[in-house]
Amino acid sequence: MQEYSFGHRHLLGIEGLTPDDINHVLDVADGYVDMNRQAEKKNAELRGRTLINCFFENSTRTRTSFEVAGKRLGADVINMAVQASSMRKGETLIDTAMTLNAMHPDVLVVRHPESGAVQLLSEKVDCAVINAGDGSHEHPTQALLDALTIRRRKHRLGGLTVAICGDVLHSRVARSNIALLTVMGARVRVVAPRTLLPTAIERLGVEVFHDMEAGLKDVDIVMMLRLQIERMHGSFVPSTREYFHFFGLDYDKLKRAKPDALIMHPGPMNRGVEIGSEVADDIDRSLIRHQVEMGVAVRMACLQILTRDISNRPPLQ
Ligand code: NCD
Repeated sequence: MQEYSFGHRHLLGIEGLTPDDINHVLDVADGYVDMNRQAEKKNAELRGRTLINCFFENSTRTRTSFEVAGKRLGADVINMAVQASSMRKGETLIDTAMTLNAMHPDVLVVRHPESGAVQLLSEKVDCAVINAGDGSHEHPTQALLDALTIRRRKHRLGGLTVAICGDVLHSRVARSNIALLTVMGARVRVVAPRTLLPTAIERLGVEVFHDMEAGLKDVDIVMMLRLQIERMHGSFVPSTREYFHFFGLDYDKLKRAKPDALIMHPGPMNRGVEIGSEVADDIDRSLIRHQVEMGVAVRMACLQILTRDISNRPPLQ
């Protein structure tokens, strides 16, 4: 397994990864799941390495997950407080990148409200960059952790039918998951009101549904998305009550899915808006807590893989 050559300097998106790349990350992550369940859950694979968490947008679980992942591998982890940083004083993203780069970090984990900003930053630094979410573009480690969660329960990804439901328009999680699941041979449906779907979404190789009853019929996985109110300029849904009535997941709508269908949500959840509490907390069918657990293992795998072959990297132009 260690011989696999990942061939990417950064992890900016799922787009561009091959099925072998994805399987490799998931295989490495599987090993870390076991390690994380032991009393002694630390090794020294990243000893002497420095990881800087650089979040230009609020985050609790993703930032914490990367911090735990880095520390479990023995790295020094620094959380940059962007609210208090020079960005506030008018420094550009590029200046911030150059400043951080001068401190010789080995990995920068970056979240930014603008699509494409993480890629831009990655072009200016010498270290590996992991995209922890850029605007409504990509969130690759979320798709990888979702894939690991599904693979461990269903023992495969290819051939499954996955319904991604809700605010697809604003969701980087949806985009990364569509890219990953389709390249791995799963059938992907998106289920959403027209106002919450990007135009020409079918081009991504998904089937489009505008009602939950039809969209959930015989699916293996129901993946719910948060209604991203903070990214909405104007009114996209009449009211959250009405939204729940038509698009919120409850047992009644779930009946259309396969009897062993599983429920996922990247978090944070709006209970009573896109998902009812009783389904979210159903320990037999909801994988939401497993997703968080798999998140740490997947991020450990990404950190390990991206810092492994540092001597083989092409020099910066
Ligand atoms: C997602 C995000 O930030 O893109 N959350 C996460 O990373 N756990 C989804 C969301 O905010 O709804």
